[in-house]
Amino acid sequence: MSRIVYVNGDYVPEEEARVSVFDRGFLFADAVYEVTTVLGGKLVDFPGHMARLARSLDELDMAHPADDATLLGIHHEMVARNGLTEGLIYLQVTRGAADRDFLYPEAAEPTLVLFTQEKPLVDTPAARAGISVITLPDRRWARRDIKTVQLLYPSMAKMAAKRAGAGDAWMVEDGKVTEGTSNNAWIVTRDGRLVTRDLSPAILAGITRAAVMRYAREAQMTVEERAFTPEEAREAAEAFVTSASTFVLPVVAIDGATLGDGRPGPVAQRLRALYIEESRKAAL
Ligand code: PDD
Repeated sequence: MSRIVYVNGDYVPEEEARVSVFDRGFLFADAVYEVTTVLGGKLVDFPGHMARLARSLDELDMAHPADDATLLGIHHEMVARNGLTEGLIYLQVTRGAADRDFLYPEAAEPTLVLFTQEKPLVDTPAARAGISVITLPDRRWARRDIKTVQLLYPSMAKMAAKRAGAGDAWMVEDGKVTEGTSNNAWIVTRDGRLVTRDLSPAILAGITRAAVMRYAREAQMTVEERAFTPEEAREAAEAFVTSASTFVLPVVAIDGATLGDGRPGPVAQRLRALYIEESRKAAL
């Protein structure tokens, strides 16, 4: 069945959706994006995603295509028109279409595109069994705090992980894990502390990361924001990743080293349940 896609003010069947070949998103990856979870037909962490979108746009001197209330209305309309109960809404803003030139065009209208992806997120084989990860050098650009569509290196890294029989890759820079290819990386130390890298241009400030950190602290868990090495991760009691599309996803092996008994650990499972429960309550 054809989806209804949003393009610059219009809701159209996906076959009819069009963007210019001169769009700077296409020519220069001059575009930013957000992925918002839909659970029970409602939006999870929506204000956080819109705040990060605004920041990404500002960092690139890009025009805002609409205010938050309008964007909320468009998201709700996409949920309704596509009958979406569980899945994702992808939103992309580009600087717009202009004759090819490295310099930003003076007058281009931003392009705004949204589409939905229906998929089970709560009950998945990966969540039940956990995933294994490999480590790879982080070869992305140095402004990973901006959520741009420059995703070729993460695609290459995910392909390398797949070829190695792993579920994902954790990227390493200067001897420390930065993050997963499309998620934030966490470990649980043997004395029960949660560790995830501190925010900087080296990583994306995950909206799920922030929510999980808040819920963990409310549940009296200790969270340390600092970088860790692949060696420390391999020695950890547990590990997991967080993102809008995976929530809290247990990691059960790192570079072939099994964590614990090789099954999702109690802390990751508890945080996953907590995150899903709280997200359902707060969803818009
Ligand atoms: N990725 N780090 C990177 C590099 C990411 O691409 C993502 C999200 C995250 C987690 O951010 P959040 O919790 O706000 O989803 C961290 C999305 C899901 C994607 O590209 O599909």
